[in-house]
Amino acid sequence: MSITCYRWVEPIETVVEPLLTLYRAIFEDADDAYLTSRLPELVDPMLWIAEDGEGWVGFKLAYRRGASLLYSWLGGVHPRVRGRGVAAALMLRQHEAALADGYTHVETRTRAANNAMLIANLRHGFHVCGHEVDARGIPVVTLRKALA
Ligand SMILES: CC(C)(COP(=O)(O)OP(=O)(O)OC[C@H]1O[C@@H](n2cnc3c(N)ncnc32)[C@H](O)[C@@H]1OP(=O)(O)O)[C@@H](O)C(=O)NCCC(=O)NCCS
Repeated sequence: MSITCYRWVEPIETVVEPLLTLYRAIFEDADDAYLTSRLPELVDPMLWIAEDGEGWVGFKLAYRRGASLLYSWLGGVHPRVRGRGVAAALMLRQHEAALADGYTHVETRTRAANNAMLIANLRHGFHVCGHEVDARGIPVVTLRKALA
């Protein structure tokens, strides 16, 4: 089935249920509270979703971290449509919208072992700008992209 639509969804509070449904389908270690507890705190959230005839199949959620910095926090693509450019399409739309909104940079963090996400980020103009081991002992890479 082809992806029929990419759209920016707001306000975010009105779409918590479809977002949680997709989040659970994407992440094996999904923790509803991790997502729902953070949602009300996000400054200027920007949620892009992809959908096909069966429902939401991809999302990319970012928020403001400064006057000109957008932080791309969480996202993913349903396993049944991976490898078909959905993540790339969401990323392109996020970056275009961010530039139009006056952001100059996008930053994101990815687990060092997540090759698919790292490669997708590098292919779309991100550069590695940091590395750390998080509170759970997991190595994490920080990446940054200049939009203009
Ligand atoms: C990472 C993820 C979002 C990629 O989604 P996708 O729609 O399959 O990715 P795309 O088809 O748009 O691919 C984008 C680029 O990433 C690379 N890529 C995607 N999946 C890959 C894989 N499994 N291995 C290596 N590279 C991969 C490709 O090189 C591709 O670039 P190209 O088309 O120019 O060759 C998806 O695998 C996913 O949802 N993973 C689980 C959730 C996750 O890890 N989220 C990120 C942390 S918040």
